[in-house]
Amino acid sequence: MGGKGVMMVAILCLWALSATSEAVTEAEPGLMMNFYKDTCPQAEDIVREQVKLLYKRHKNTAFSWLRNIFHDCAVESCDASLLLDSTRRELGEKEHDRSFGLRNFRYIEEIKEALERECPGVVSCSDILVLSAREGIEAVGGPYIPLKTGRRDGLKSRTDMLESYLPDHNESISVVLEKFKSIGIDTPGLVALLGSHSVGRTHCVKLVHRLYPEVDPSLNPDHVPHMLHKCPDSIPDPKAVQYVRNDRGTPMVLDNNYYRNILDNKGLLLVDHQLAHDKRTRPIVKKMAKDQAYFFKEFTRAIQILSENNPLTGSKGEIRKQCNLANKNH
Ligand code: HEM
Ligand SMILES: *[C@@H]1O[C@H](CO)[C@@H](O)[C@H](O)[C@H]1NC(C)=O
Repeated sequence: MGGKGVMMVAILCLWALSATSEAVTEAEPGLMMNFYKDTCPQAEDIVREQVKLLYKRHKNTAFSWLRNIFHDCAVESCDASLLLDSTRRELGEKEHDRSFGLRNFRYIEEIKEALERECPGVVSCSDILVLSAREGIEAVGGPYIPLKTGRRDGLKSRTDMLESYLPDHNESISVVLEKFKSIGIDTPGLVALLGSHSVGRTHCVKLVHRLYPEVDPSLNPDHVPHMLHKCPDSIPDPKAVQYVRNDRGTPMVLDNNYYRNILDNKGLLLVDHQLAHDKRTRPIVKKMAKDQAYFFKEFTRAIQILSENNPLTGSKGEIRKQCNLANKNH
């Protein structure tokens, strides 16, 4: 190689070097494993401990942490916008009909307070929401799911977008598949996530249309008397807390019994029922009904995707002091 050639190589190397270093400095910091290892090394342990304590007091808190990750992360971003109270200008997401039945929000504040005592102003409510879901899933017998952290909190409610991301209880599977696809979750991922309906409850208002004026003939006749007993009125008394457990067999455990129930026409919501009967989802439902390990594998993958949906990182958003209130006045 002549002197000119050496020169060219040197220039090329320098150019390549500067290009990579630029890319590094410009990249968003993003999510990572154990984001708080320097700023609050005990953060994930505190969440775990608090979730366990709360679970001992109220088992259903774990169901809420699981449902929260869907209702927050599926709507545009995992930014804890779900936790914000209504303001004079904005209706909180919690007040929308799609959020019907969400509960235990005040206990999120207990977890947040425990973190504020140790590391004030460091751990975001969106990371608390995601980590509490992980611990809740484990508490009810689900898999342990490694999850990244480093999310920051959104400044406002996204109530106006809820309906475009969260399907209604009676939505068609085509629409449900489309909505999940828009946030990166494929068909097996969707089928696995709906396995969450293996725990918790459904209020009568969300299922009376399958019982009155006449019983939906697709419901398993063995299941109907129980549903009618729990929901005796075609218009449920809003003050009486009337509901049916999602999975009568193992109501407190996240397991694949959900898939056997829906194949058996014992799914409560129309979406649950259709999942077992649509040709795109039925083969996966059957496989999950037989193979809990497959269900857990897909569930883990889907929760990871959900938890990484469009986070606010770096200097975006804020770290709330209290999960139900944005610090900044916007
Ligand atoms: C097509 C999508 C979905 C629809 C239409 C839907 C709808 C519903 C409805 C109507 C309830 C009953 C609420 C009540 O009456 O109290 C419910 C409960 C629940 N959902 Fe979903 N859901 C969907 C997907 C998911 C996903 C993806 C998850 C979790 C990742 C989830 C977790 C839960 C849990 C844990 C409960 C029980 C809550 C409790 O007992 O407090 N759902 N869902
Ligand atoms: C779904 O149920 C709601 C009531 O919860 C009703 O207003 C709506 O029309 C139903 N949608 C379909 C597609 O049946």
